[in-house]
Amino acid sequence: MEERVTTGIEGLDTMLNGGVPKGHVFTVMGSFGTGKTTFALQYLWEGLQKGEKCVYISLEENKEDIVTTAKSYDWDLSQYIDSGDVVIEKLEPADADATIHKLKSELPDFINSFGAKRIAIDSVSLLNMLSDKQQQKRERLFGLCNMVRETGATTLLTAEVKDDNPSSSRDGLVEYTVDGVILLRYDHDKHDVQMSIQVIKMRRIEHSRSIKPYEIIDSGIKVHTEGAVF
Ligand SMILES: Nc1ncnc2c1ncn2[C@@H]1O[C@H](COP(=O)(O)OP(=O)(O)O)[C@@H](O)[C@H]1O
Ligand SMILES: [Mg+2]
Repeated sequence: MEERVTTGIEGLDTMLNGGVPKGHVFTVMGSFGTGKTTFALQYLWEGLQKGEKCVYISLEENKEDIVTTAKSYDWDLSQYIDSGDVVIEKLEPADADATIHKLKSELPDFINSFGAKRIAIDSVSLLNMLSDKQQQKRERLFGLCNMVRETGATTLLTAEVKDDNPSSSRDGLVEYTVDGVILLRYDHDKHDVQMSIQVIKMRRIEHSRSIKPYEIIDSGIKVHTEGAVF
């Protein structure tokens, strides 16, 4: 059986029959506020608890904000920053040239020598904004996926979804490039809202396709596998 990497998200690892296959590049898609950043932090925190080295590449929040956000869930990253087990790198989407240069020439070497087992990139949608041509977006995204795949680290890419089609990524690209897609949905009826999660695709393994409710609580994301969505 293929070696698995647990996400650390209660219920989701059950839906995945143990976790994400080691070395996969997978995406977590959802609209703002669905918990993508939380997912990425929880995923890395799980790795840190297992003694794995982790890299968080942020295009949104700066390093201090990420540490503060993690702390709000009781995940104290500072000790792991000090011990050199986690590295948080902020890339400036506004500075396209510098960001592309870092991604292409500095990060691969760094990730390899650092020995990262888990990488989170939050978010590829912001990275895609660095290119205005569809062809260039595609090439850069493919390049990024290949780069992280070659490091052997199991990599999570967060992605925003389209406003008018919340089951497709904003650029409609990442879901075709990656080995797995996990979709976070935000639904409401007349009286209530509900967040739900679905594993849309996960290459090489058998997984649940059910849509299950989840909540974000002070210990992070929790999926209710026994629950039903309305
Ligand atoms: N410490 C916390 N405890 C419980 N819920 C939280 C906490 N921090 C954030 N949340 C919830 O998670 C949501 C944000 O999730 P986030 O991971 O930032 O989403 P995204 O990255 O998809 O925009 C917030 O809007 C809030 O509802
Ligand atoms: Mg976010």
